[in-house]
Amino acid sequence: MKFSIIAFLSLAGSIVALPTAPLEARDNPSLAPITLVDGPSHSDNVTCKRGSYAASYSGEDVYEAVQYAIALMQNGETRGKAKYPHSLHGNSTEHPLNFPESCPADKSRYEYPLEKGSYYNGGPKNQTTGNERVVFYHKDDEIDTQNHPKAYFCGLITSGGKKNGEFRNC
Ligand SMILES: *[C@@H]1O[C@H](CO)[C@@H](O)[C@H](O)[C@H]1NC(C)=O
Ligand SMILES: *[C@@H]1O[C@H](CO)[C@@H](O)[C@H](O)[C@H]1NC(C)=O
Ligand SMILES: *[C@@H]1O[C@H](CO)[C@@H](O)[C@H](O)[C@H]1NC(C)=O
Repeated sequence: MKFSIIAFLSLAGSIVALPTAPLEARDNPSLAPITLVDGPSHSDNVTCKRGSYAASYSGEDVYEAVQYAIALMQNGETRGKAKYPHSLHGNSTEHPLNFPESCPADKSRYEYPLEKGSYYNGGPKNQTTGNERVVFYHKDDEIDTQNHPKAYFCGLITSGGKKNGEFRNC
C-alpha cells in the first residue's frame, strides 16, 4: 500500500511538472512552395546597412522566412513572445518606413524575423530574434496559378544591432 501511494504521488508529480517544464522551440509546420512576388533571387545576397552596421542574408533565407511565416498563418500559429508573424502597419513620423505600392500599410502587411540558413521558430527562450525582419504582404486567400500562397516582398527592416533600436528600412 505504502509503495503504491508513493508510486501514485510520483506519477502525479510528473504530470503536474509537465506544463512548467521549459518549452523548447516548437515543431516546424510543413512547408509548401509559395510565390514571393518581387522577392530577391535565391542565390543573391541582400545586405542591410545602417551606419557601420551591416548584415547579409541570402535570397533563399528571405524566401524561407516568408514561406515559414505563411505556413504558420495557415495553421493559426505564431512563434516567439511577440507572436510572429504579426502585422506591421505602425509608422514612426521621425523615421518613416517606406515600402512599394504592392505593400500598403494594412493588416495584411506582416513582419517575420530573419535567420541565416534557417528559420526563426521561437528559439529556446522564445524571445531571442535577430536584428532584421522580412516584410511581406499576403492576403489569406491569395494564391498563384498553381494554387500556392502568393505574397509580395516588401523589403527588409533592421534595428541596426541596437537593443530596442527603432526599425528602419534596410
Ligand atoms: C553571398 O554571400 C555568401 C557568404 O558570404 C558568399 O559565399 C556568396 O558568394 C555570396 N553570393 C553572391 C551572389 O554574392
Ligand atoms: C512562445 O510563443 C508562442 C506564441 O508565439 C506561445 O504560444 C508559446 O506558449 C510561447 N512559449 C513560451 C515558452 O513562452
Ligand atoms: C509612413 O508615414 C510617412 C509620413 O506620413 C509616409 O510618407 C509613409 O508613406 C508612411 N509609410 C508607410 C509604409 O506607411
